[in-house]
Amino acid sequence: MSDYTDRIAEAAGALRARGISGADVAIVLGSGLGAFADAIEGATRVPYGDIPHWPAAKVVGHVGVLVAGRLAGRTVVTLAGRAHFYEGHPLTEVTFAMRVLGALGVPRVILTNAAGGINTRFATGALMLIDDHINLLGSNPLIGPFDPALGARFPDMTEVYSRRLRALATEVAATAGIAVEHGVYVAVHGPSYETPAEIRAFRVMGADAVGMSTAPEAIVARQMGLEVLGISCISNPAAGVVDAPLNHDDVMAVTTRVRGQFIQLLEGVVGRL
Ligand code: HPA
Repeated sequence: MSDYTDRIAEAAGALRARGISGADVAIVLGSGLGAFADAIEGATRVPYGDIPHWPAAKVVGHVGVLVAGRLAGRTVVTLAGRAHFYEGHPLTEVTFAMRVLGALGVPRVILTNAAGGINTRFATGALMLIDDHINLLGSNPLIGPFDPALGARFPDMTEVYSRRLRALATEVAATAGIAVEHGVYVAVHGPSYETPAEIRAFRVMGADAVGMSTAPEAIVARQMGLEVLGISCISNPAAGVVDAPLNHDDVMAVTTRVRGQFIQLLEGVVGRL
């Protein structure tokens, strides 16, 4: 066992000691979506600081608490707050939580985020099911010594975002009357927002939305064989799409505004897994 797998096992052990021994699904909540955790019944709340080796979430709008319980008839573990690459964590730490979920035997994860809309058809506040991603972080969470306990050295990435879960989410959205978009998420390092020239370049590459998370977690989840669903809240038109500067407060305000719909979609998907 490497030091890394030791730390993963210790964190998983600490959660098991709190009665959290797995779940039907894990849900990572993006900026402004932390309130989703309030909908969980019989909640056990574990602040990140109480979990050994777990990186703290320090960004405004990210709470930093793991909430386990029941939702729509399923057992769930939600993470309100995530570590980001731009905070200076190595990607192995950014994805530490994902590793712990894998160690607990959680079979699937829903990754949510706030993202800038590159596709000019997307309205601000739209929800986008992530069909695929482009990792422009300039790094990969699987870089490092190979440990077969974590999965394959060269894991396949042809279907990172589960076709089955995307179809299910599309169906749930249609039934609930929630409009959803589909598209490709490009992950960038940040923390500066993009320039208009970068956004034009990403559009040519085939990206529909841009954000600073999700791709590393999805890569690690797939290496471990978890099913992944990704949902972006299009919190703003990306840089240069409209003639207005970007700021984190606006991102938060939009995610807060569409939170109700987002929660309804998540609950619907969880209930029909
Ligand atoms: N760019 C990058 N990350 C983001 C954005 C954006 O425009 N909006 C929310 N997260």
